[in-house]
Amino acid sequence: MALTLWIFLALEVLGASSEVRQFFLQQASGQDCQTLQLGESWISHFLIDCHLECIRRYSENCQAVVYNSQTGNCRPGSVAFGPIEKVATSIPETGSSDKLYYVRQPIPPCNTSNSFALYDVCGTSACLYLSTSRAENYSDARTLCSQMDSRLFVGNTMAKFSLLWYTSKTYINDNLFTGLQDIAVEGNFVWENGEALSDEQNQYIWTPGNPDNSGGNQHCAIAFPEVSSKKTTLDDARCDLNRHYICERCSQC
Ligand SMILES: *[C@@H]1O[C@H](CO)[C@@H](O)[C@H](O)[C@H]1NC(C)=O
Ligand SMILES: *[C@@H]1O[C@H](CO)[C@@H](O)[C@H](O)[C@H]1NC(C)=O
Repeated sequence: MALTLWIFLALEVLGASSEVRQFFLQQASGQDCQTLQLGESWISHFLIDCHLECIRRYSENCQAVVYNSQTGNCRPGSVAFGPIEKVATSIPETGSSDKLYYVRQPIPPCNTSNSFALYDVCGTSACLYLSTSRAENYSDARTLCSQMDSRLFVGNTMAKFSLLWYTSKTYINDNLFTGLQDIAVEGNFVWENGEALSDEQNQYIWTPGNPDNSGGNQHCAIAFPEVSSKKTTLDDARCDLNRHYICERCSQC
């Protein structure tokens, strides 16, 4: 993941609440980061105008812009996230010369005891522990996180879901539990914070043909982030097998 070039620092803008918001607009190289277009594009002569106009029109919802410095074409974007193949409508399109500039999301506090650390992709950060050995099963993984004042990773937004892929591909490189399961009610997938899997995410997180509850005992969503596989989608699988896991610090868990 090559993130480059601080375009400008701490551009202070008066938001709707009259509080000064700070923007750190950072350019993503290649197709490392993507976003969803919030509305019609327009022409801006400079990147900074593109971003300011995006904030004027979309306020806090504008978290990224896709700008083409040759044509001045400016596209307003929602939060930036790392590459997820199944999101077909994302910008910039593969192969285009448009560049994505994203705003850093608020950085959560991170108690680094037990080898927790901040990980960041496309402007979204989380305080995580990446397992160095496998848990016995899902419930064991849950216990191991809980013993470190944390919970299994909750990838309940596109940005956080991409952080799961980024950290697991970059550091764990082996299959892992994802903090998403349908143990209680078959077909009702729930994140570790108790939140149901949203319809939006349900469209893009699964490998085609999954979840299929094959054999009637596949209740844990697992990722296979091996570097050789470009796949960024999940399968449902058995909960009682040894797998890696990612814990996330949380204030009430
Ligand atoms: C950080 O976490 C450890 C272990 O969970 C805890 O003992 C310690 O008090 C925490 N430190 C702070 C500053 O919260
Ligand atoms: C999961 O693993 C733990 C730790 O080895 C074990 O005590 C527990 O019985 C296992 N639970 C299930 C449901 O297999």
